[in-house]
Order: sequence, then structure tokens, then C-alpha cells
Amino acid sequence: MKLALILFFPLLSFAIPSKQEQLKYSVAGIISNATRPDVKPGMVVASPSKSDPDYYYDWVRDTALTYSALVDYYAIKKDAKILGMIKDWVGSETSRQNKWSLTGLGEPKYNIDGTSFNGPWGRPQNDGPALRALAMIKFARILLANNQTDYVIKNLYRGMLPADSVIKKDLEYTAYHWDEASFDLWEEEKGMHFYTLISQYTALKEGAALASELSDEGAAQFYKEEALKIKNYITATFNDDVIGIKATVNKVGGGLHYKTSNIDVAVLLGLLHNYPYQDIYKFGDARVKKYVEALTNSFKLAYTLNHNNKTAAVAIGRYPEDRYDGYGTNGTGNPWFLATAGLGEYYCILQKSSKRNYSEIIESQFQMVLYHSDRQGHLSEQFNRDNGIMQGARDLTWSYSSFLTAMMRCGLTK
Ligand code: NOJ
Ligand code: NOJ
Repeated sequence: MKLALILFFPLLSFAIPSKQEQLKYSVAGIISNATRPDVKPGMVVASPSKSDPDYYYDWVRDTALTYSALVDYYAIKKDAKILGMIKDWVGSETSRQNKWSLTGLGEPKYNIDGTSFNGPWGRPQNDGPALRALAMIKFARILLANNQTDYVIKNLYRGMLPADSVIKKDLEYTAYHWDEASFDLWEEEKGMHFYTLISQYTALKEGAALASELSDEGAAQFYKEEALKIKNYITATFNDDVIGIKATVNKVGGGLHYKTSNIDVAVLLGLLHNYPYQDIYKFGDARVKKYVEALTNSFKLAYTLNHNNKTAAVAIGRYPEDRYDGYGTNGTGNPWFLATAGLGEYYCILQKSSKRNYSEIIESQFQMVLYHSDRQGHLSEQFNRDNGIMQGARDLTWSYSSFLTAMMRCGLTK
């Protein structure tokens, strides 16, 4: 009996890392995936895994979210090495935008030498340019506050048409394409997605402010008008009396036949990734709370891991009907680290405007991530819904960046 237990839970022999230890591992994990000698400087592999699954590519979304975290981290730490990485990223995104690809700026993933990936894929994915624009706008603001306007105008935003600067290209693309169906962040369904739209809204709203600051007033007006149209579309379309906020509408070709609840962590991620700029939904809104409750309940029901868990934590995956097990779609979906950490991050932000005390759930979400890590700093994409053991792409950059972001939002990185 004892032996069987030891074989079944080989990880129990390692001490669970502290949040601060995992923070260090996560930053190191990002840096390792973002500075590989065989990868073009500024590009990031989604994971070092080259087969089963092959994640040895740069996804525009993963990279934008990772650099968004690094820009925030730089604002706190002022670390010269991180600044150098951010500048390399600006350079590689600029050249990526100018490469021919099948869907232009909507292209979701690229080869690690910077050339476009032209194999079959779910494309376009129009969240990418919006997420990249917001991350770069944050960087531009840090520079403007430090009188580095020259760098901003040379490398980030110039009021020229046709657009010839990285932020403006993304804003123009977003302003002209937001009303077109594209693939969701999970690369599975073509349609209109809350996640994509709220990212596009926020990018255009913040882009309008930056354009105005840099005296590009006509553009500022245009971005603002398109942002308002998106806001009206979102509020008229995604609110739902039963689940709070739904994830996707107007699916092209019917979408995945088994994805029926429309409950998806993508909605939560949309709120988190656009915080604190997004102003359509407040974290304490009854509608948001209803959605988070529906989300949480659906995963409580779906995973044995949650049935057996005695703490306040809930393991969260992408959506309850998910069949992607990290290797293929003939399996069953599992909790993801970035989603489970994301729920903790949500409560940290909610805490700022609430009299209720959320410290127990916040701490439990972090502990759940730490418990299911390999306890030596590594975080893959998923952990098994039954036994909690890690699976899917190893050392997923986005797992690390979500941990870093959660720590920053919870005020634990000072
Ligand atoms: C790989 C994608 O990245 C993942 O999100 C998707 O679920 C599977 N392919 C199946 O389409
Ligand atoms: C699959 C995920 O569904 C997608 O969101 C992500 O961009 C890729 N893997 C790469 O990490």
C-alpha cells in the first residue's frame, strides 16, 4: 500500500515552493523561452517542446501577453536586461508586421526565425494585434514619462498614413477588421468573441489617448469612434441572464458541435488582460460575478480533482466541454495553470473595491498552482483533471507570465 502510494504520487517527495520562489522560477522560465540562441531576438517560443505537442513557434498572442507582463514588471523593477528584451521585442514585432503572411496582421503564429508559418491553421486570430498594441502602448507611456519621446516616435507610434509604425499598424488593422469573424484565442472556433472584442476595444480606446498625446488628432477621433461601436456591440450581444457573459456568438460553420454552454474562461481572461484600462465591466458588477460563479460551478462539476479538493480553490480549465488534453482533441480537457492562477488574480483585483475578504480563495488558488507544479519551478500547460499531474506542453511561457501577472496584480512583487 505504501509503495503504491509512493509510485502514484512521486511528486510528494518535493517541498512545495513558496509564491516568491515560484515567482523567481517564472521570471527565469520566461527569460529562458524568450532568449534562446536558435530563436530570433525578441521572439518567444510558446514552449520549448518540439513534439507532442510542437509548440516551438512564436504565437503573437502568447508573446504579447508575455511582454505585457514584462513591461509591467520592468515598471516595478527597472531592470536593464528586461528593458533590452523589450526593445528586441519591439524590433522583432516591427519586422514581423512587414513580412508577407496568409492573413496579414491577423496571422496567429510564426516560425522562430521570424518567417511566416503557412501551414494549415485557424486563422486569422484578431486578438493578436490588439494585445500587442496595448502592451506596446504601456511601454510607450513609460518612455514618454521619462522624456524619451524620440524613441517612441521612431520605434512605436507615428501619425503617418499608410501606417508605418508598429502600434499604429495594429490600431489601423483593428479599427478596420474588428467587425469580421476570426478564430478565438483557443484557435478552434471562427466567430465573434468577447475576448477578442474587449481586447480590440481597449486597444483602440488607449490607442486614441496615445494618438492624441502625440498630436495625431484625426486618428484619435477615429479610434475613439470605433472603440465606441465595439463597446455598443459587446453590451448588446454578450450579456446573458443565466451565465452572466457568454464567450462567442455568430459561429461560422457552426463551430465545435460539443462546445454548447458558452461558459469559457476566455471571458475572465479578457477582463484580466485588459485591466485596468477596460471600462465596460467592473470586476464587482453583478453580471461579472454571475459569470464567475457559472464558470466556477461548471469546473467544480467537471473535474474529479475539484470534487476531492478540500480547500477553497477551484481548478479552472478553458471551458467545461474541452477535449484538448494538451496533445490532441480526442481526449478530455484539463485545468490550466493560467486559468487557475487567473481566478486568484480576479479575486485580488475584486478585493481592491470590496469590503468582503477574499484572502482565503486568493491564497488557495496560488497554492493549487504551486501544489500541481513539479515543485522545482516548472509549469506546463495543464494538470490532469483526475490526478493533478502536469501534462501538455512543458514550460509553457504563458503559464509563467500568468503567474507573474497574478503576483503583480496581488501586490506581491514589490
Ligand atoms: C492546437 C491549439 O493550439 C489548441 O488550442 C486546440 O485546442 C488544438 N490545436 C485543437 O484544435
Ligand atoms: C494553445 C492555446 O489554445 C492557444 O491559446 C495558445 O496560443 C497556443 N496553445 C500556444 O500556447
